[in-house]
Amino acid sequence: MGKIYVFDHPLIQHKVSLMRMTSTNTKEFRDLAREVAMLMAFEATRNLPLEEVEIETPICKTRVNMLKGEDIAIVPILRAGLGFVDGMLEIVPNAKVGHIGLYRDPETHEPVEYYCKLPSDIEKRRVFVLDPMLATGGSAVAAVDFIKQKGAQDIVFMCLIAAPEGIKALQEAHPDIDIYIAAKDDHLNENAYIVPGLGDAGDRLYGTR
Ligand code: PRP
Ligand code: URA
Repeated sequence: MGKIYVFDHPLIQHKVSLMRMTSTNTKEFRDLAREVAMLMAFEATRNLPLEEVEIETPICKTRVNMLKGEDIAIVPILRAGLGFVDGMLEIVPNAKVGHIGLYRDPETHEPVEYYCKLPSDIEKRRVFVLDPMLATGGSAVAAVDFIKQKGAQDIVFMCLIAAPEGIKALQEAHPDIDIYIAAKDDHLNENAYIVPGLGDAGDRLYGTR
């Protein structure tokens, strides 16, 4: 059974609170998304596999642990997931990046896929699926479905804000994956927006409406 991690680090909580504020502008929001992703990545990569390699220090040869960096893939869900990519890449710069395009139908709130391009060796990689918002969970469940269909077996989901409804849906559909959440919110409103949330993450990142 996958685990659920809700971050209690004060820096993450402070930055997420700033992102929620209506007064936070597009540039500030984007900067904060990158910073939070970086801080979350630090913890979400805690159990990455290491390999022992021989190196030479100025004193002698020795064996040390180093990351198997080529084994990671980052897959943002377009478009808001893009806001997390730079922060992740600061921590795991050798990761390959795939993309999944999904949007929620405004009437049904069901996810509609419009793009999917993943690294060809996705089945060998630990895949970090990124999306700031886990609301009904429809987009996350569909994205993980696609990634599993392409052969991936080791999948982690990272989001900024999650509603209980979305966590339940993702856990029920994909009980094997770990979920990392910066803040767990209260509920969804009648338009399936997270309350209190931060509004539409894509619009806040890119200044659209
Ligand atoms: C947002 C968000 C998630 C989805 C979450 O994307 O980035 O992908 O909604 O909602 P769900 O859990 O109910 O599926 P949106 O559909 O607004 O598309 P965008 O990123 O292109 O703005
Ligand atoms: N998508 C968003 O961007 N925000 C929400 O609150 C729910 C879905």
